[in-house]
Amino acid sequence: MENIVILTGAGISAESGLKTFRDSDGLWEGYNIEDVATPEAWARNPQMVQQFYNERRKSVLEAQPNLAHFALAKLEEKYQVTIITQNIDDLHERAGSTNVVHLHGVITRSQSSLNPALTYPINGWEIKMGETCELGSQLRAHVVWFGEAVPMIETAARICSDADIFILVGTSLAVYPAAGLINYVPRQVTRYIIDPNIPVSSGSRVVEMPYKATIGVPMLVEELMG
Ligand code: APR
Repeated sequence: MENIVILTGAGISAESGLKTFRDSDGLWEGYNIEDVATPEAWARNPQMVQQFYNERRKSVLEAQPNLAHFALAKLEEKYQVTIITQNIDDLHERAGSTNVVHLHGVITRSQSSLNPALTYPINGWEIKMGETCELGSQLRAHVVWFGEAVPMIETAARICSDADIFILVGTSLAVYPAAGLINYVPRQVTRYIIDPNIPVSSGSRVVEMPYKATIGVPMLVEELMG
């Protein structure tokens, strides 16, 4: 079985109603990263950080997977598929994908503020101040903030180096180390890029598909299933 590796970003969930980060109406237009997505922000104002992620969680729980998420799940009928996602939503899983690596965590789980390896399911949309982990420290969202380690990055790099086909969907490739993963894909492997704004310059093995995810992904999946 051929091995397909897909790296996704916020663009794949945009048509499910979840904002991207760096588009003109993106989340980082309305918030400063330094205020809500760093360990320093948490130390300064944990209530504000908690509220920011509680709101994100609420939006994710209200959102539904779209045609792009569903099309990627269908690839498993013919290929070995790994999705590496930078997204903290769980829309790939809800669409039926069974092998998803969350590089930046997942908003539907909470995390100990003392030990990032301790994570828990969340009941509902809210983590309340005063809710603690088994070590007695405040629970926070299970997401990787700027300035924190990305524990899954080595696993993800290994997965990329085993790809027979590589697909990039809806990411600006602005954030490292995730953006560097494309460099682990073997040279001879075809890279399909689905994004209205193609983020990397072309090469002979790059197939640019400058479409929205719900158009471009089903189109490519139909071709690959052909
Ligand atoms: N279909 C496909 N792609 C789209 C769509 C769409 N409907 N709408 C927007 N895009 C593309 C944009 O053109 C852009 O290239 O999605 C990309 C979104 O880029 P970012 O907002 O930078 O999101 P992402 O690349 O996922 O960000 C990476 O930054 O702050 C963080 O931790 C956060 O995981 C996130 C990381």
